[in-house]
Amino acid sequence: MGDAMEVDTPTVARLTAVAKGKAKITAPSKSVPWVEKYRPTSLADVAAHKDIIDTIDRLTGENRLPHLLLYGPPGTGKTSTILAVARKLYGSQFQNMILELNASDDRGIDVVRQQIQDFASTQSISFGAKGNVKLVILDEADAMTKDAQFALRRIIEKYTKNTRFCLICNYVSKIIPALQSRCTRFRFAPLSVENVTGRLQYIIREEGLDATESGLAAIVRLSNGDMRKALNVLQEALFLKISNRLHTGF
Ligand SMILES: Nc1ncnc2c1ncn2[C@@H]1O[C@H](COP(=O)(O)OP(=O)(O)OP(=O)(O)O)[C@@H](O)[C@H]1O
Ligand SMILES: [Mg+2]
Repeated sequence: MGDAMEVDTPTVARLTAVAKGKAKITAPSKSVPWVEKYRPTSLADVAAHKDIIDTIDRLTGENRLPHLLLYGPPGTGKTSTILAVARKLYGSQFQNMILELNASDDRGIDVVRQQIQDFASTQSISFGAKGNVKLVILDEADAMTKDAQFALRRIIEKYTKNTRFCLICNYVSKIIPALQSRCTRFRFAPLSVENVTGRLQYIIREEGLDATESGLAAIVRLSNGDMRKALNVLQEALFLKISNRLHTGF
């Protein structure tokens, strides 16, 4: 088991393709993708970004959650972080208190506006002052046109009394200043080598697997601070190794 991740050339090629998003993982369909299985459910599970998490956690605890703008490259924990915040804030009411929208939805800003209106205008079940503001999560906000962003600015103003907005994007420069200034901005940097390594080691332990140091280091290098990539490559690497063994009758 000790050399579970020493890989041959075709395997490396395959893993590189997975890392680049050019190939899907081929793990058996029964097995849950690890990116889902190991999506952090609590803030404590989010690797890295401790300062960001502490700040958002403190503001939430003081009932002062601002509108948020979370930005940074893929697979760094933006979506996971806001969902963990919401889970902590709302507990069992989680599903009722958040609205998750994809801002790049090609049905346009009017659909987004209608969904937000329907969501924000229904009475929230009161369970303590903290839980009273609802949360709209707008993913891929940088895919919105300028006009749609201006429309969104008005929507935010209209519902600001009982609703907080969390905009998420990869490129903050694509967000109009008028929207940026209404939000507290947090940059999610690529994860450090230590953070990616630590999280992968945890998952390897949880799965009861073993990995060589050099195999692990290769995956960490390939992932470039993108945790989603790291998990996909790890899962694929371990799967390929198993299928190689089956082929060669190992
Ligand atoms: N900081 C992190 N700590 C632990 N796991 C993480 C972290 N960031 C990402 N992951 C893993 O990667 C997966 C994808 O993360 P997430 O959806 O939060 O990324 P994202 O920053 O929203 O990316 P995108 O910009 O592509 O939407 C998660 O399900 C989780 O398994
Ligand atoms: Mg995301």
